[in-house]
Amino acid sequence: MHTTNNFTPEILEKLEALQKKYSAMGQDLSSYLDGLLYADFLTYWDYINLDTLLSLQQPITPYPDEKVFIIYHQITELYFKLSLHEFDRISEAIANSNITPELLLERIRRINRYFEALTNSFDIMVDGMDHGEFLKFRMSLLPASGFQSAQYRKIEICCTSLDRVAHKNHREVFSNYTLDDIPQVFNHLYWREGASELKSGLKTLTLKQFEKKYDEELLELARQSYTSNVRSAAANLVFSDDQSDIKEELKQAMRWLDVNVNINWTLVHYKSAVRYLQRDPEDIAASGGTNWQKYLPPRFQKRIFFPELWSEQELEDWGKGWVKREIFGVK
Ligand code: HEM
Repeated sequence: MHTTNNFTPEILEKLEALQKKYSAMGQDLSSYLDGLLYADFLTYWDYINLDTLLSLQQPITPYPDEKVFIIYHQITELYFKLSLHEFDRISEAIANSNITPELLLERIRRINRYFEALTNSFDIMVDGMDHGEFLKFRMSLLPASGFQSAQYRKIEICCTSLDRVAHKNHREVFSNYTLDDIPQVFNHLYWREGASELKSGLKTLTLKQFEKKYDEELLELARQSYTSNVRSAAANLVFSDDQSDIKEELKQAMRWLDVNVNINWTLVHYKSAVRYLQRDPEDIAASGGTNWQKYLPPRFQKRIFFPELWSEQELEDWGKGWVKREIFGVK
């Protein structure tokens, strides 16, 4: 092949394109090429910050299964982060006025995939730790609880309008809330009302600490998501006549998101609480102090992001079939 100064035409073409790119920004290409010359080759471990990542598992008790517990929580938080990354892309598209049914559908499908991975792997918690070890190391972690996962709360806020995350007794009242009403709705979110101590009915320390650290941030997100949560985003889409297929696909993906977050994950998680904490009354102490048997099951919480996509009967039966089948083994 004919070359000039040993450069192939492809390389020369690329150099020209680079020259154009850098001069358009007033930059000197030659200095950047120096940088390339002196830079080390990238390694896998540096690129993904592997040493830092693998240094973050720090048990505080001598029980080996505490490491399983920590790592699985970290894995979950990373999947939550992936989900929030998709929600960011939805709000960006809304802010730039280029939201489309295709874009929303693709983001929701991704989030569904992340939650399916979490639901399918939750047996690592349910069956993968020694019960005796769990009950011991868990006592050293009090009052910390997954309840304090801010990313989980953010996912809920990004999925739907804030009234749908309120305690079920307040949803109706707030169904037409305005931006100004957000602080009021925020005070009645279901988890705030659910986290009261078994005996006294007072706010748990788990909740108080969480509120202190995250209330402001979550309130701000609630304001930002007023028009960019998935429920509002979908309601504001305009479909042309030839888009009935994608309209239906979007509806199915949203229903699946509701099931993934509010039934499937919620129930496999509840299953782990039943597995480890149910056995005798004292075991219940190994939680953040909530009345979790009343609080966690979806059939009591009835968290439903998109009620308009479900029939009366489906709303009525929310989460019930799964509980019978998976937790109590009834066919
Ligand atoms: C053996 C494993 C687990 C047990 C026994 C367990 C137990 C509990 C209990 C009892 C609660 C109620 C709040 C409290 O009293 O502390 C709770 C809440 C919660 N846990 Fe877990 N959990 C486990 C694993 C996980 C994992 C791996 C995650 C992932 C981050 C997680 C995230 C959450 C969240 C987000 C809540 C709040 C749920 C809500 O408000 O509806 N948990 N957990």
